[in-house]
Amino acid sequence: MNTHILRSVVRGVGAYLPERVLTNADLAKTVDTTDEWIQQRTGIRQRHIAAPGETTSQLATKAAQAALANAGLTGADIDLIIVATSTPDYTFPAVATQVQANLGVQHGVAFDLQAVCSGFVFATTTADKFLTSGSHKRVLVIGAETFSRILDWEDRTTCVLFGDGAGAVVLEAQESDGTLTSPGIITSQLRSDGRHRAKLYVDGGPSTTQTVGHLRMEGKEVFRHAVGMVTDVVKACFADAGVTAADIDWFVPHQANRRIIDASAEKLGLALEKVVKTVELHGNTSAASIPLALSVACKDGRIKKGDLVMIEAMGGGFTWGASLIRW
Ligand code: UT7
Repeated sequence: MNTHILRSVVRGVGAYLPERVLTNADLAKTVDTTDEWIQQRTGIRQRHIAAPGETTSQLATKAAQAALANAGLTGADIDLIIVATSTPDYTFPAVATQVQANLGVQHGVAFDLQAVCSGFVFATTTADKFLTSGSHKRVLVIGAETFSRILDWEDRTTCVLFGDGAGAVVLEAQESDGTLTSPGIITSQLRSDGRHRAKLYVDGGPSTTQTVGHLRMEGKEVFRHAVGMVTDVVKACFADAGVTAADIDWFVPHQANRRIIDASAEKLGLALEKVVKTVELHGNTSAASIPLALSVACKDGRIKKGDLVMIEAMGGGFTWGASLIRW
């Protein structure tokens, strides 16, 4: 009996954070806020901010190099690069093609994907389709952002929430028996609903204002939808894979707000010690937050080979999604 299929298996993880750290106390010097308010409402203590001239493609390249090193691979081994970002260096070309050039890769294909904070889940799921179709062998999936460049630094309701950074994973197509215990992406669920545009958007762009614009958010409204949306897609993954919360070793959610993370974990019946949280140190880095968190939890030995990992995110659009991965 030959039941072998292809699975997208994680070969390596890497991350990069800009050097400069901006603390809540630093922010309180320029906007009407306090460390206490930010920590209490969001869990954030600090965030990293890209240096002048430091671009998303540079952060993405450094994260990609770290992931390749972790996998014991080089750019020559990669035939697809997907960068999830909402803060590209330029309107075009894609950040991914710049990363491709920076890595010295001249074969294969590279493109960007835009799903705001859900970008990494969307990019991982897209990569999985390429790999399991047999068309590509190894993918660099990168989430990279310089949200500091699209923040209104006078708007205390948004500027305290976000940070810059990049994270990457290398996924490889491997023969699998397709069982729950075999490594790789087991199932993914992606959703979007464009009716929610006005709750979280950037008020500029090439075909409207011809400017880059600033992030605008009705925080309370986003919060109100977030928990229900992410728990829905996580439960859909549970059902599709035939698992329950008890089977999950690590829950690695998008890092927007500690309260959203805790409420989602509680609603799903996931023990808090299984939840990887980096929001405290990184803030919300949009598409970069999940691979940054994965990188932290792999490095410190929490996520190990054989663990069952659930990633999920929700963001502008709205977009939302989840993926269940056997490490
Ligand atoms: O990445 C994906 C999408 N993003 C998210 O998931 C973010 C979702 N939303 C949130 O995380 C939360 O809604 C926020 C953290 C943005 C806000 O928390 P909240 O508990 O919903 O607070 P709020 O917006 O209801 O504001 C409460 C009060 C307001 O004052 P009044 O009207 O009660 O007098 C705000 O003006 O806090 C005030 N406030 C601040 N105070 C000090 C708002 N921002 C600040 C601030 N410092 N930075």
